[in-house]
Parts: sequence; C-alpha cells; structure tokens
Amino acid sequence: MNNRFLQPIEEALYDYLPSADCRERKLVEAMRYSLEAGGKRVRPMLVMEFNALCGGKPETALPFACAVEMVHTYSLIHDDLPCMDDDDLRRGKPSNHKMFGEDTALLAGDALLTLAFDILTSDDTAALVGDKTCRRAAAVLARYAGASGMVGGQVIDLQSENQRVTYDVLNDLVGKKTACLIQAACELGCLAAHADEGKIRAASEYGECIGFAFQIQDDILDCTSTDEVLGKPVGSDEENQKSTFVSLLGLQRSKQMVDNYTAQAVGALRRFMGDTQPLTDLALALAQRKN
Ligand code: IPE
Ligand code: IPE
Ligand code: MG
Ligand code: MG
Ligand code: MG
Repeated sequence: MNNRFLQPIEEALYDYLPSADCRERKLVEAMRYSLEAGGKRVRPMLVMEFNALCGGKPETALPFACAVEMVHTYSLIHDDLPCMDDDDLRRGKPSNHKMFGEDTALLAGDALLTLAFDILTSDDTAALVGDKTCRRAAAVLARYAGASGMVGGQVIDLQSENQRVTYDVLNDLVGKKTACLIQAACELGCLAAHADEGKIRAASEYGECIGFAFQIQDDILDCTSTDEVLGKPVGSDEENQKSTFVSLLGLQRSKQMVDNYTAQAVGALRRFMGDTQPLTDLALALAQRKN
C-alpha cells in the first residue's frame, strides 16, 4: 500500500528503538524484529493523513504515528502467542515467539507498549505539540488500547471461540479489538494538528467505519487467501473456531459490509474542508487489499 508518508514513518520508527548495546540485547532485538518485519503501516499513515488534512506539519505528527504502530505491533506479538491464536507466521516471517521464545516475545510486546507512552510523553514530543496535547494523546491512546478498547476486544474474541455469538457480541468484539486502535490513530492525527472537536469526531467516525471494514476484510482473507500473499497463516480463524463476520454471515454478506462501511467512512470526510482525496483513496485501497 503506497503512501506519501511511508518512508518518514519507517525512518522514525527505527530511530525510536533503544540501542541493542546492552545486557538486555535479546529484548531489543525481539522488539526490532517485529517492528522491522514490515507490515502495512496503516495506523501511522492514518495519523499522518489526518494531521495533514487538518493543516499540521508532518514532523509534528510522527511521534504519534510511531506510538500507535508500537502499540499495534505489540498487540500482534501477543495475539500470535500459543495462549492466544497460536500462529507461527507474521508479516511473512516466523512469529516473534518462534524466533525468541514465549518469554521474550511477551516482554518485547510489553516493552513496545511502554515505549509508545514514553514517546507520547517525552520532552521532545511536548516541544513539538505542547504539554496539553501530549497528555490528551496519551489519554486517547490508553483508552482505545486498554481494557475497554483493544485489550477488552481480544478478551471477547477469546471468549467467543467455539460458539455462535449474537450479532451484538460480534459488533462489540470487532469494534473493540480492531476499530478502537484505528479510531485512536485518526483522532491522534487531528490532535497533532490541534484540530477542533468537530473534526476529531468526524475522524473518529471515519476510523470506526474503516476499522470494521478492515477486520471484516481480514476475516475474509483468512479464508480466501494464501500464507504467501497474506504473510500469516490462513485458516487460523477456522482452526480456532473464532466468531467472525464470515462465520456468522457468510462471505457474500461480509463483502457487502466491507463496501458499506467503506462508503460510510468516505462520507464522514465531508465534514473536512481540505483535500480529502488521500483518505478517500486509503479507505478504498483497504477495502480492496489482498494482504
Ligand atoms: C492485523 O493488522 C491485525 C488486525 C487488526 C486485523 P494489519 O493487517 O494492519 O497488520 P500489519 O501491520 O499490516 O502486519
Ligand atoms: C487481532 O485480530 C486483532 C488484534 C488486536 C491484534 P486477528 O487475530 O484476526 O489478527 P490476525 O489475523 O492474527 O492478524
Ligand atoms: Mg486474534
Ligand atoms: Mg490472530
Ligand atoms: Mg485475522
């Protein structure tokens, strides 16, 4: 997925990693391994694009973009652990615990999560965006990533294995485990540019809609793609008897929902005055994605 901010995002991400020249070298290598394994960088792209749409300079939003990607990467490391989805392939490479062991994988995830908040609350970031914005960004990310957001969604996901859940439960599950962090990215982009509350709300709606579209497409690819194209094991959801949109509604209706949510996301951009084309293009590209 091409994006004008991809290169600065990649560079900034690696710059934030601690040096491996220390006794805990293995931990730093494990953090670097998953971060450098690639990934589409969708969430940091969203931070950068909303910041640009709201008139912010790119360098102001980079710390927020990196913080969200660190939280996302931690969530993937933990998601692959044997106690969760037990998957051996991630971003086209052996999963973190396959390379470094479960103990180090767990701790590398913890360290990426804490590094995210270190970045958000650092003096350097405060000098760029101001103390008040840093505090609010940390609060937004904590709320969307925590017990009532992504982590909560992961718990509902695990509880929903081996059973047929209601549509309400599935909406709660996907809204929390996936849409929340994507919403956080969109809101953080607006915050970096000191946008007004109306814009933050519109960005949040866009994020929620593409978040749903994103997870439904992920569920579709899990049963229609290949390991090589996807970079992670297909059939994982079926093996774990997960509750997904595909298992509840079937492929055709799930595809329709991806399109509906994408259209709603694009609609939410009407509330912005600037050039919304990059975010329209991103939403459409995500709905068509193959990995
Ligand atoms: C995978 O996210 C986890 C989900 C929320 C579906 P991505 O598809 O964004 O994973 P990477 O970052 O590109 O590897
Ligand atoms: C995971 O959903 C969402 C996270 C919060 C990590 P999945 O379990 O479907 O993600 P993949 O398919 O392993 O990337
Ligand atoms: Mg999972
Ligand atoms: Mg998984
Ligand atoms: Mg999946």
